[in-house]
Order: sequence, then structure tokens, then C-alpha cells
Amino acid sequence: MEVKTSLLDNMIGVGDMVLLEPLSEDSFLENLKKRFEHNEIYTYIGSVVISMNPYRSLPIYTPEKVEEYRNRNFYELSPHIYALADEAYRSLRDQDKDQCILITGESGAGKTEASKLVMSYVAAVCGKGQEVNKVKEQLLQSNPVLEAFGNAKTVRNDNSSRFGKYMDIEFDFKGDPLGGVISNYLLEKSRVVKQPRGERNFHIFYQLLSGASDETLKKLKLDRDFSKYNYLSLDSASVSGVDDAANFRTVRNAMQIVGFMEDEVQSVLQLVAAVLKLGNIEFKPESRSNGLDESRVKDKNDLKEMCELLGIEQSVLERAFSYRTVEAKSEKVSTTLNVAQAYYARDALAKNLYSRLFSWLVTRINESIKAQAKTRHKVMGVLDIYGFEIFEDNSFEQFIINYCNEKLQQIFIELTLREEQEEYIREGIEWTNIEYFNNAVICDLIENNKNGILAMLDEECLRPGTVTDETFLDKLNMICAQHQHFESRLSKNSKFLTDHSLPHNCFRIQHYAGKVLYRAEGFVDKNNDLLYRDLSQAMYKANHGLIKQLFPEGSPAKINLKRPPTAGYQFKASVGTLMRNLQTKNPNYIRCIKPNDKKSSHIFTESLVCHQVRYLGLMENVRVRRAGYAFRQAYEPCLERYKMLCKKTWPHWKGPARKGVEVLMSDLKVPAEEYAYGRSKIFIRNPKTLFFLEERRRQCLQDLATLIQKIYRGWKCRRQFLLMKKSQVVVAAWYRRYAQQKKYLKIKHATTVMQSFARGWQARKLLRQLKHQKRCEEAATTIAAYWHGTQVRREYRKFFRANAGKKIYNFTVQRIIQKYFLNLKKNLPSMSPVDKSWPSRPYSFLDGVHAELRRIFHLWRCKKYRSQFTEEKKAVYEEKLEASTLFKDKKALYPSSVSQSFKGDYLEINKNPKYQKLHSAVDEKVLLADTVSKINRANGKGSPRIFLLTKKSVVLADQKSGQVKASVPLLDLASVSVSTQNDGFFALKLKEGSSSAVKGDFLLSSERLIEIITKLYRLSATNADRVPLNVDISDEFLVQFKNDKVCVKFIQGSPRNGSGASCKRKNNRLLEVSVPSTA
Ligand SMILES: Nc1ncnc2c1ncn2[C@@H]1O[C@H](COP(=O)(O)OP(=O)(O)OP(=O)(O)O)[C@@H](O)[C@H]1O
Ligand SMILES: [Mg+2]
Repeated sequence: MEVKTSLLDNMIGVGDMVLLEPLSEDSFLENLKKRFEHNEIYTYIGSVVISMNPYRSLPIYTPEKVEEYRNRNFYELSPHIYALADEAYRSLRDQDKDQCILITGESGAGKTEASKLVMSYVAAVCGKGQEVNKVKEQLLQSNPVLEAFGNAKTVRNDNSSRFGKYMDIEFDFKGDPLGGVISNYLLEKSRVVKQPRGERNFHIFYQLLSGASDETLKKLKLDRDFSKYNYLSLDSASVSGVDDAANFRTVRNAMQIVGFMEDEVQSVLQLVAAVLKLGNIEFKPESRSNGLDESRVKDKNDLKEMCELLGIEQSVLERAFSYRTVEAKSEKVSTTLNVAQAYYARDALAKNLYSRLFSWLVTRINESIKAQAKTRHKVMGVLDIYGFEIFEDNSFEQFIINYCNEKLQQIFIELTLREEQEEYIREGIEWTNIEYFNNAVICDLIENNKNGILAMLDEECLRPGTVTDETFLDKLNMICAQHQHFESRLSKNSKFLTDHSLPHNCFRIQHYAGKVLYRAEGFVDKNNDLLYRDLSQAMYKANHGLIKQLFPEGSPAKINLKRPPTAGYQFKASVGTLMRNLQTKNPNYIRCIKPNDKKSSHIFTESLVCHQVRYLGLMENVRVRRAGYAFRQAYEPCLERYKMLCKKTWPHWKGPARKGVEVLMSDLKVPAEEYAYGRSKIFIRNPKTLFFLEERRRQCLQDLATLIQKIYRGWKCRRQFLLMKKSQVVVAAWYRRYAQQKKYLKIKHATTVMQSFARGWQARKLLRQLKHQKRCEEAATTIAAYWHGTQVRREYRKFFRANAGKKIYNFTVQRIIQKYFLNLKKNLPSMSPVDKSWPSRPYSFLDGVHAELRRIFHLWRCKKYRSQFTEEKKAVYEEKLEASTLFKDKKALYPSSVSQSFKGDYLEINKNPKYQKLHSAVDEKVLLADTVSKINRANGKGSPRIFLLTKKSVVLADQKSGQVKASVPLLDLASVSVSTQNDGFFALKLKEGSSSAVKGDFLLSSERLIEIITKLYRLSATNADRVPLNVDISDEFLVQFKNDKVCVKFIQGSPRNGSGASCKRKNNRLLEVSVPSTA
């Protein structure tokens, strides 16, 4: 919510002097002082702003402040120059009223600062945009340029404006600035050549010398040292807190922004330099033949440099300083100038040069800032004109300045009253006239066309004959003697005859702001403002664009003998124009007051302020304002402010605001004469009524504050209670909820467990079923798939390319195998089991089969072979097999026996009659009959014997007779010993104690040893009740001959032709058999 404040809130003293109670000069000053001491430098008198110079920067011009005052009513906030600027700007923009802001006050009171503040405020609140900003910038930047050329340090003000300035800022219908026009009034040009003690020349001279670069100075033929220039006062050349060099840069920058071209800037600086040079030109007298002194330039160097700067022919200027041409009608008379006249001419030239330059600058700035659009403009004029001046020594300038201030005061009185009156008429309020001092009479004294001081001065100046300041004063004394505001010692008015404060050469005027004593000296001269024609012509001849432009009257084409209008006349005319201009506009006043003469921020010199308050007519202003009604306020804000004072209007009033205010006033029993109802405002006659309302309001506000506090506290406690109650309910609810939740969760958990078990059981059951079902389905599917697969494959196999390989492979393999078998069949080896041959195999993969077939074939061949055997042959082979078992690889004789067929009966004992007897002697069937050698134990020699073997016994018989020599039952045979070698010796060893053992063992030799021993062994083995015969194969064994045991040892003899091993008796116990080696 926007906080509504008022001028009446937080007031220090009173913000509006109209409300001052009681109203007296003292209370007025007291109020100003109080406010000044609290940094409240602005105070209102109605709509007029009084501004006290704070002499220090206050934080009240910030962008935030601008925002604060923007679009607010004038009395809404505490007094501020921004409020006035805002009011003026808004009524210009919204009500289409041209405005003027009149800033008055004495030198150093803050007029220029105020004008800048107004301009900057307007610049800040008006429209924005590239073009608009450029215009704003140019308008604002015109200030530093004009201040540099038109301001100077005076004893009163370090930045005193030495010219009057009125600036019209032009706006379009939206309130955007379009441009502006500056009017300047009477520059104090005498300052160029001479400055009072403690003061300076115009800032630009010092700025140029301090701030310009060496190069620029060189170009301008200047020296940085101030002391080199006669026109510069030296005692106060530098001002504390002012940086001339920095200001020079600011000025140059401002000139650039305003739109000065670089050559224009240079020209301007050349002119400034020329003025300085001019001041250094000095003259000396030179006696002429006619006895008169003629002036001559002393040192021509400065003259030369100046002429170079301005492009003037040196001789022309030099001559202009020595001669003067006076033209009268058709005559031209040249007179010489004495030294004093030469100095006068020099200074006149310098003053004219500078003041014309200044006017040119204003024109040039106007050219830049002039509004481009041709549409109708709204105008806001800002007048910053020199203030009323009362010096010790007052001259023509002060007279002019004070005249201007008189005019302003008049317009102030007129407009203020008129405005006041108009407001009453507008609002339909009765108006009673108020007495005030009207300074029209003083204005008349000065400006009256017939006998006004200015008119008389002009008359004097134009009059032929000797004209001096004295003749002028005499004239004044004569004509103005009876004027009540004119005082002069020599006037016909006898009352001043003895007034010693009035010197004879002076006159005094009682201005509205006080009496001012003017010295008549210089009035005529200054009013004439003469520049010798020779000088203006010399200037016109200059080869310098700007100079030529400044002295148009020097043109030979313009020979005009008519005197130019006097300074006084010109000023009067321009002031007249200004006044007429101001009267067409809505005035806004800023009355500047300086608090002290010391430029100090803390001193409030009452006498000084009092003086200003008086001559500014502020008390009268307040009185005029209060003569009718001291205070006025629109109904809406009034009702808004005081509605709490009446129950009917508080807190809301439904009807129109005026009705509300009427109810309010009658309810408060304010006497009827104390107020009046206007059309849109209520008018309050006395401030005390307003203060009564304010006081009631203040009390009411306190009561309201208490009420609000009470209600608030009650509300706060109740809120607290309700909050706690609510909290308790919430806590309880939460706790119950928590307990229930816990219980519920427990039950839920239990239920869930049970449910989960049940569900688990059910689920598992279902799962089993489903799994089974799934398996069945999968099995069925798989079977079906396989079945279908098989069927399909079967159907389609023939079409499978993949099978072709296999088929080809199988076929090829079959073919190879077939071929292999056929080949094998063709090349089968003989059926002889001893045949080792076997056809080679064609492929290595048949290795296993080949070997297996060979083995099978061999087995089959052997079986075939065996199946051909007869029983006898079979028996023979059995014997052979037995022989192999017994001797293979044990006895060297064995291989030779393999090929022998075991015939058995080699002697054909049955058939051969020779052995008939023997045969009969043997009962049993003879299984073997052969001839053997029986080894004699005595010599080792053998003797032939017939060896018979039957089933039961071994019979040895004599070969020749066939007589049985020995018959040994097989049962008595203990063992048979043979050697390992290739011999036929064998020993039949008899069991000890048997009947046959008496004769001892038999050592025999036979070529058929293998057959004999094999048959012996077989007989012993087939006999069930006997132990198989032990066959001992060893190269050394014992033989029991009767009683002796003889060792038979077999040795390897040398190979011998012819068969047979030889046996030799070595000793009683050793028979050595030498067996020839086979190799
Ligand atoms: N509002 C302000 N805030 C701070 N300082 C101020 C203010 N107004 C004036 N001053 C100070 O006072 C000085 C003089 O003010 P300013 O130049 O405006 O006076 P003036 O009335 O224009 O005088 P003159 O008639 O000699 O030109 C300024 O240079 C500045 O230092
Ligand atoms: Mg000023």
C-alpha cells in the first residue's frame, strides 16, 4: 500500500510559512533558521519556494528523490525544489500551460544552482529515447559553456553569474523536450578589463591557461603564467575547491556535445587569447608638433602576436590606437588619440570583443539547441538573473541590475496577487483586496519614457555639446527631485542637503529591496558603450571569420552615422520583452536566500537573512497569501487526512468528498468564518484552525494507534491461543493416529504373514500343477515338434543340400570300402597259416579295419587249416604244442625239432621182425621207438640202445639183439634234465628209493630229444594219479650213477663239421659235454 505523507508530517518548524503562527518577522526568521539548521533548506510560501543556500552538497538530489517527487502533489511531500519543478512540468504537460520559473535572490544565494536542479529534474522525468536524450544533453551541457564565459569569482560568489539568463525549454505535446532558446542579458563586460579586489576575470581565461595543452597554448601564443597578463587579477587567480584545468576539459567536452565544430572552438579560444594579448598592449606618449601628445604602442610584440592570431594587419590596428576618425555629415576628421584615450580604446575593444563573443556563443548554442519540429511548442522558461546588488561602490551595472530586479519584483507581486485572485474567482470565494507595497513607482522612476532616469541618461548621451556624468546628475537632480524614491544631495529636495551619507557625485534610489547609492561616474560612458569606428573597422578587416562576424558595423558598406542604441535603452527593451514574455506564462517562484556572507554551511546570519527576507518581500508574500485564506486543500485529500475526526466520515465516507468535508467541519464545530468552501477546495482562513485540525488528528491518530495496538494485541493473543488449541488438537489427533496406525500395522503384519503362508502354499500347489502342466505341454510340443520335424525332414531330406555331402561321403566311403574289399579279396594271401604276407591298405583310415581283417583272416585261415586235421595229426600237433611249451626259447635244439614230424615209432617195431621179440616183451603199445645213445659214465662215450616208450614205462634195449636192458616204470621217473644247448643229451632221473633206482640214472643222447621228452611229459601229465614230470633245463646238472653223483656240465665248443656233441669224463664227478656252436 502506498504510504500517504503530507507536507504537515514530520515538520521541522513549519514547511509552509503561510501556516506560521504568529506571523512576525522574528518567527519567520526563527522558522527559517530552525529549518536551515536541520538541513531543511526549502520552505514554502504557498506555491513559492524559499531556498536557503546550504553551501554544501546535501543528499537530497538523488535519483530516488526524483522518483519520490515524481507525479506527486505539491503539498504531498516535504518542501523541495523538485516539487515545484514537478508541479510546473506536469501543469505544462497535462494542462497545456506554458510555465516560467523565476529564480531570484542576491548574488551567491543559489539561483544558478536552483536553475540547474530544475533543469536536471525535468530532464530526468520527461520522456526518454535517443533523440530526446540528445536534446536533453545539449540543453544541460549549454550550462558549463555559458558559465565558463559568463561567470566569475566575486567576493560574494566563487561562481557568480555575470550575465542574466533566460532559457525557454520547448516541449512537444507528450512533454518530451524538443529544444530551447537562451536569452542573455547584459554581460558585466567591465570585468574583462578590471576586476574589483578579491575577484577574478571570467573563468575561461584561467581555465584556458591552466587546462590547455602546451601545444594549444603555443598555437595561441599564450604563456601559462597568469602574471604575464594585465587583464588577469592575480591576488585571487586560483579559487579554492575549483580545478580550472578540469573545468576547461569539461567546457571543451560540453562545447563538443552542444555541437561546436573544432574550428569554431579554435576561433573562440583565439578570441579569448586575443583579449589577453590586448590587455598587454601598452602605450607611450609621443609629442607632436602641435604640442599635443599622441599615443604610440610601447612594445609591439603583443600587438604583433594578437594581430597574427586574429589575422589583422598590424599597422591598421596600430593606427586605430593612435587616431580617431570623426565623421560628421560628409566630413571626415582624423584626430590623434592621447595615451589615456588609447587605453580607453584598447579596453573598449577588449570589452566589446569579449561581450560580442559571449553573445555569439549564446546565438551559436541557440542554433544547436533550437527545436527542429515546427509544431506548436509548450514552453518552460527558466530565469536565472543576477540578484539585487548593493555594493559599496555602485555603478551603471548595478543600476541596470537593480532595475531588472525591480521589474521582477513587480511581476512577482502582480502575478502572485493575480494568481491568488484568480484562484478565489475560480473557486467562487469572495476576495477582499489586500494592501501591499507596489514598486511600480520605482520602476516608473527608472524607466519612464519621458522623465525616467534611463530616458534622461539617453538624452544626455545623445545631446550635442559637452556631456559628462555631472551634467547627467544635474539633470537628474532637477527632474527627479520630487520623486519619493530618489535622493540626491544637490536635488531641489532640501531634506537631503545635510545628508552626509550622500556624496555630491552620487544619487540614491530607494529600491524595494533597500536604498542603493549610485556613483554617477561612468554612467554616460557605459551607456554610450562607444567603440571607435576605426577599431571596429580594423576588426572587420581581420582575416578571421568570427571576428568579422562580431564587428559587422566595421563594414565599409555600412556607413551609418546614426548612433547605435545605448546600453540602457537596449537593456530596457530586452527587460520589457522579458517581462511581457513572463506575463504570458504561469509563474513559479524560487526565492533564493543566502544564509551568510562567508560561504559557510553552518552560519545563519540573521541580519543578512532578514535583509533578504525584507527586500524579497517574503513577509508581504505570506500576508497576501494569508489575507484571504492561509490554507487550501482539495476536498479529497482533506477528507482523507481528517476523516478520522468524525464518526460519520470514519472509516469510510460514501458520498462526495465535499459533503464529507462539510459534515466533518460541522461535526468538529469549526466556526463558519474560519473556512469557506470553494468549488474543488476547502479554504481555511487561519493557520490556527489548521493546527487545531492537525492537533485533533494527532490525538486521534494516537487513539487510533492505541486501538489498533489493542485490537492487534487481542488478535495476537487469540491467534496464539487458537494456534495452541489447534496445535493440541493436531498433536492429539496425530498421536491417536500414530497409536492406531501402530496397532493396525501389527494386525496387518500378522495378517500378511498368515496370508503369505496360505498364499504361498496355494501358490506352490498351483506352481506345481502349472509346472507339470507346462512340462506336459512342453513335452507334447517337443514331441510334436520332433515328430513334425522328423516328418518334414524325412519328406524334405532328399531336397537338403546338406545331406548331399553326407550321402556322397557315405557313397564314396562305401565305394572305397567296396573296392578295398574286392581288392583284398583278389589279393588275399595263401591259406598257409605261416604265410606272413598281407596286401597293403589303400587308405590310412582303413588301418584299424585292415589290421582287424588281417587278424580275422589269419584266425579264419588257422581255423580252416585246423579243420583239415585228422585225429592223429591233431595229436601230433598237440604234442608239438606241448614241445613248444616246454622248450621254446629254453633249449637251442628246439627250432630244429619243429619241422620234424613226431612219428613215434621210427623203428617200425611192430612190423620189423628184427624187433619181434622185443615187441612181445613189451606188453603195451609202443608209443615211441628209436635208437638212442647211452652215455657211458666211465668215458663219456655213447653206445646205441633202442629206446621204447609205452604208456607205463621206458624200455632200453640192445640195438642188435633187441634185448631189454632196462625197463623203468614211468612212475619211478622223478625228473628229466636237459641242457639249454643244441645237443641231444638228457638224463632220466629216478626217484630215490624206487626199484629202478638201483642201477642209477640214465644219461642218454638222441636227436629226437624234444619228441622223447615231450611224450614223456604228456604221459606223466595225462596220468591222473601222477604228478607231471619235472623237466629241468640247465647247463649243469647232477646224475646219480649207482652210488656216485656225477655232474654233467655243458660247454660251448668250437664249431665242428659233423654233428654231435662230444662227451668227456673229466674226473669222477664231472662229465663235460662240449656242444659245437651253431654259428
Ligand atoms: N542547493 C545547493 N546545494 C549545495 N550548494 C549550493 C546550492 N545552491 C548554491 N550552492 C552553493 O552556493 C554557490 C553559489 O550559488 P549560485 O552560483 O547558484 O549563486 P547565484 O545565486 O547564481 O549567484 P550569482 O547571482 O552571483 O550568480 C554555488 O557555487 C554552490 O557552491
Ligand atoms: Mg548565478
